[in-house]
Amino acid sequence: MKKIGFIGLGKLGLDCAEVFAEHYDVRGYDIYPRTSDSVKVCTIEETVDQSEWIFIAVPTPHAEGYDGSVPSSHMEPCDFGHDAVKDALVQINKYAQSPKKVVLISTVLPGTTRRHFATLLNRQHQFLYNPYLIAMGSVKWDMINPEMVMIGTETGDPKEMQELVDIYRAMMANNPRYVTGTWDECEAIKIFYNTFISAKVGLVNMIQDFALRIGNINVDVVTDALAQSTMRIMGPKYMTAGMGDAGACHPRDNIALRWLAEEYDIGYDLFDTIMHAREIQAENLANFLIEQKANSDMPIVIHGKAYKPDVPYCIGSYSTLIGHYLEQQCQEFYYVDPLADNSERVIESLGRPAVVLMAHNRHITYGYTGESAKDHFYCEIEPGSVIVDPWRKLPKDMAGMTVIHYGNTRRS
Ligand SMILES: NC(=O)c1ccc[n+]([C@@H]2O[C@H](COP(=O)([O-])OP(=O)(O)OC[C@H]3O[C@@H](n4cnc5c(N)ncnc54)[C@H](O)[C@@H]3O)[C@@H](O)[C@H]2O)c1
Repeated sequence: MKKIGFIGLGKLGLDCAEVFAEHYDVRGYDIYPRTSDSVKVCTIEETVDQSEWIFIAVPTPHAEGYDGSVPSSHMEPCDFGHDAVKDALVQINKYAQSPKKVVLISTVLPGTTRRHFATLLNRQHQFLYNPYLIAMGSVKWDMINPEMVMIGTETGDPKEMQELVDIYRAMMANNPRYVTGTWDECEAIKIFYNTFISAKVGLVNMIQDFALRIGNINVDVVTDALAQSTMRIMGPKYMTAGMGDAGACHPRDNIALRWLAEEYDIGYDLFDTIMHAREIQAENLANFLIEQKANSDMPIVIHGKAYKPDVPYCIGSYSTLIGHYLEQQCQEFYYVDPLADNSERVIESLGRPAVVLMAHNRHITYGYTGESAKDHFYCEIEPGSVIVDPWRKLPKDMAGMTVIHYGNTRRS
């Protein structure tokens, strides 16, 4: 049985290691204590020495304030941090008694592996770059149902990747595409995949902004027609206007690419524009919420503080970006979210009518996995409340409430 090691058992690494453990003998190490029923959590020495394949899933953090949960397009661009990856490579050199295949999963900007990492690893080991297209809340499902598996080596020779492809073939549920290339190509595929999504969401939300200003437009009629235009425009995913792109990866990847555009003197910065649009779209939605108060003393409540339903993470959250603009305008506002890992302004119940923004929608977020659990309110919504649904899914005839489908300005 193949012997696999994981360095970094965090939000991504632990679940991925457990998926590997359904097929292979898996050990793992983390600087923080971790537990698992199927992965043998042990020292770095044992993880390195006893594993033929070593996967690195340590953080490549963005600087403070660069996750997209507050405005950042006015700030100096900067690269991700590389210290934890460098540390993992040093540990591998130190404890490996035989040649290893070292696979970096962590997200880095194009060119990073060649410029900063490859030279650190002893030549007897092979270095592969193999990022994942995985989202929080569905890590294990995404791991075995990827759109593609990207594997990069120094030269991009497909023969060098065959063994890793075979390891994955035994695990996958959906027979994915295997894309091989150089380190730099795979770094680029991963980060431009994420930022393409941000651009797409920025575009559909721009149509939403126009719908609000022009009138007589339901944004869904427009985006559904575009989504089905498969001759020239891509498929239907991320073609529903609503909240902006969010999370631990996408906003920060755009923010970091601003730095790369400057570093390579590209001459323009599309990523700045995408992030700037995202911020103004959040500000527009914040202003819309304020307008709905119509001089009443109702507070504004954002229903969902984490960047999506069913997870606690507020990193890169579009809800908190909207909160930032409400705060700037000295508005009374709160969040309701039973899971949020940041409790600032989070309340458990309202007790009075409010303007409620339905930030979370489980179907929009998880529908692609086949998961069909219904949405529920995180707390009692008092009669007299105004509910703003940016996804336009709630019935408009909820007793005692006014439900507004944000982005639909049709009269009927
Ligand atoms: N979370 C995701 O959905 C996701 C998806 C795709 C890519 N990524 C990328 O994967 C990487 C890890 O992301 P994450 O969300 O799991 O981060 P995380 O912070 O949850 O986990 C990283 C883990 O590495 C450990 N660690 C830090 N330094 C270490 C060291 N020197 N040696 C051993 N362990 C160390 C930390 O204690 C932590 O448990 C990042 O580059 C991220 O961009 C994450």
